[in-house]
Amino acid sequence: MRTSFANFLLVCLVLFGSAGICHGGELKKNFYKDSCPQAEEIVKSIIWKRVASNSTLPAKFLRMHFHDCIVRGCDASVLLNSTPNNKAEKEAIPNLSLSGFDVIDEVKTQLEKTCPGTVSCADIVSLAARDSVSYQFRKPMWKVLTGRRDGKISSQSEALANLPSPYSSFSILKQNFSSKGLSVHDLVVLAGAHTIGVAHCNFFSNRLYNFTGQGDSDPSLNSTYTAFLKTKCRNLSDNTTTVPMEPETPLSFGNNYYSNLKQHKGMFGSDASLLTEERPANIVDEMLVPGKFFVEFGQSMKRMGAIGVLTDNSGEIRKKCSVVNS
Ligand code: HEM
Ligand SMILES: *[C@@H]1O[C@H](CO)[C@@H](O)[C@H](O)[C@H]1NC(C)=O
Ligand SMILES: *[C@@H]1O[C@H](CO)[C@@H](O)[C@H](O)[C@H]1NC(C)=O
Ligand SMILES: *[C@@H]1O[C@H](CO)[C@@H](O)[C@H](O)[C@H]1NC(C)=O
Ligand SMILES: *[C@@H]1O[C@H](CO)[C@@H](O)[C@H](O)[C@H]1NC(C)=O
Ligand SMILES: *[C@@H]1O[C@H](CO)[C@@H](O)[C@H](O)[C@H]1NC(C)=O
Ligand SMILES: *[C@@H]1O[C@H](CO)[C@@H](O)[C@H](O)[C@H]1NC(C)=O
Ligand SMILES: *[C@@H]1O[C@H](CO)[C@@H](O)[C@H](O)[C@H]1NC(C)=O
Repeated sequence: MRTSFANFLLVCLVLFGSAGICHGGELKKNFYKDSCPQAEEIVKSIIWKRVASNSTLPAKFLRMHFHDCIVRGCDASVLLNSTPNNKAEKEAIPNLSLSGFDVIDEVKTQLEKTCPGTVSCADIVSLAARDSVSYQFRKPMWKVLTGRRDGKISSQSEALANLPSPYSSFSILKQNFSSKGLSVHDLVVLAGAHTIGVAHCNFFSNRLYNFTGQGDSDPSLNSTYTAFLKTKCRNLSDNTTTVPMEPETPLSFGNNYYSNLKQHKGMFGSDASLLTEERPANIVDEMLVPGKFFVEFGQSMKRMGAIGVLTDNSGEIRKKCSVVNS
C-alpha cells in the first residue's frame, strides 16, 4: 500500500514535475447519477440551445477546455476573474479569443437552482466542449467522465508558461504535451480540433510577411493559400482580423484538418510542424482513414480531460464559476 502510494507520487512527479497536482481520486462515468441526476441533461439542453443560434460556440468551448486543462489541470481556473491582487489566466495574451463565459454562467445558474453546490464548473467546461461539438451530429461524440472539482487559483503567468506557442517546432510541442502526460499520438489527434474555429492574423502573419526576417513567406505554406491569406491579413501587426482555420468548412467538425495539412494549408507553424517528422506525419495519414479521427479524438479528449484533476475533497464546488467561494 505504502509502496504503491510512493510509486503513484513518483508518477506524478515524473509527469507533472510536482506531486501536488495529483490527488489520487478518479473521474467516473455519470458521477452525478445520485446527487444530481439531471445534471448532464441540463448542460446539454442549454448548450444545444445556444449553439443552435450561434455556430461559433463549439470552437470556443473546445479551446476553453484545452486551455483549462493545460494550465494547472482541468479545474476551471480558466473561468476565474482577476482580482485586485491577482491577474487571472484570462489576462494572458493567448486568451485572445476565449469567450462563451456567459453560456457557462447560464448553465451554472440553472444547475445551482436544481442541485445547489453540487456540479463543478470544471465538469461543466468538459461537458460543454463535448456537447457543443456534438450538436452538429445530434448525438454525443465522446464520453466525458465527471467528478472534477474546482481550483482556487488562476494566474496569468502560469497560463503564459504553459500554453503551447503557435510558433513551436514539433520537438518542442512533443515535450510540452509530454509534460502534461500526453503522447505524440494525442498531440496529432488533438491538433485536429483546429478543424473548427478562427485565428487572429498575428499568430501566423510571420509566415506571410517576414518568415526569416527577409520580408519573405514560409515556403512550407501553400503559395496559393499564402496569397489568399495576405488579402485577409494586410500587415504583420494586424491583431484584430480573424480568419477561419479551415478555409472551406470552418464550422464543420471532421478530419478535414488533416487533408488541409497535407495540402500545406495548416494555419500555424505548429500545425505545419506535424509534417516535419515521420512519426507525427504517419499519424496524420492515419487520421485520413474515414471514421478514425472521431474514435481517436474521443480517446485523447478523455486523457486531456483528466490532466491534474482535483477530486474527492480537493478544491471546492464553486457557487459562481468566475469567483472562488469566500
Ligand atoms: C498543439 C498546440 C496548440 C497550439 C500552439 C494552439 C494555438 C492556437 C491559436 C494561436 C489559436 C488562435 C486563437 C486566436 O487567434 O484567437 C487557436 C485556436 C483554436 N484552438 Fe488551438 N492550439 C493548440 C492545440 C489545441 C488543442 C489541443 C485544442 C482542443 C482540443 C485546440 C482548440 C482550438 C480551437 C477550437 C480554436 C479556435 C478558437 C476560436 O474559434 O475562437 N487547440 N489555437
Ligand atoms: C484577455 O486578456 C486581455 C488583456 O490581456 C483582457 O483585456 C481581456 O478581457 C481578456 N479576455 C477575457 C475573455 O477575459
Ligand atoms: C456568438 O458567440 C460569440 C462568443 O461568445 C460572440 O462573440 C458572438 O458575438 C456571438 N454571435 C452572435 C450572433 O450572437
Ligand atoms: C515547451 O517545451 C520547451 C522545451 O522543453 C520549454 O522550453 C517550453 O517552456 C515549453 N513551453 C510550454 C508552453 O510548456
Ligand atoms: C522582419 O524581421 C527582421 C528581422 O527580425 C526585422 O529587422 C524587420 O524589421 C522585420 N520586418 C518587419 C516589417 O517587421
Ligand atoms: C495593419 O492592418 C490593420 C488592419 O487592416 C490596420 O488597422 C493597421 O492600421 C495596419 N497597420 C499598419 C502599420 O499598416
Ligand atoms: C494589438 O496591437 C496594438 C498595437 O500594436 C496593441 O496596442 C494592442 O494591445 C494589441 N492588442 C492585442 C489584443 O494584443
Ligand atoms: C495548394 O492548394 C491547392 C488548392 O488550393 C492544391 O490544389 C495544391 O495541391 C496545393 N499545393 C501543395 C503543394 O500542396
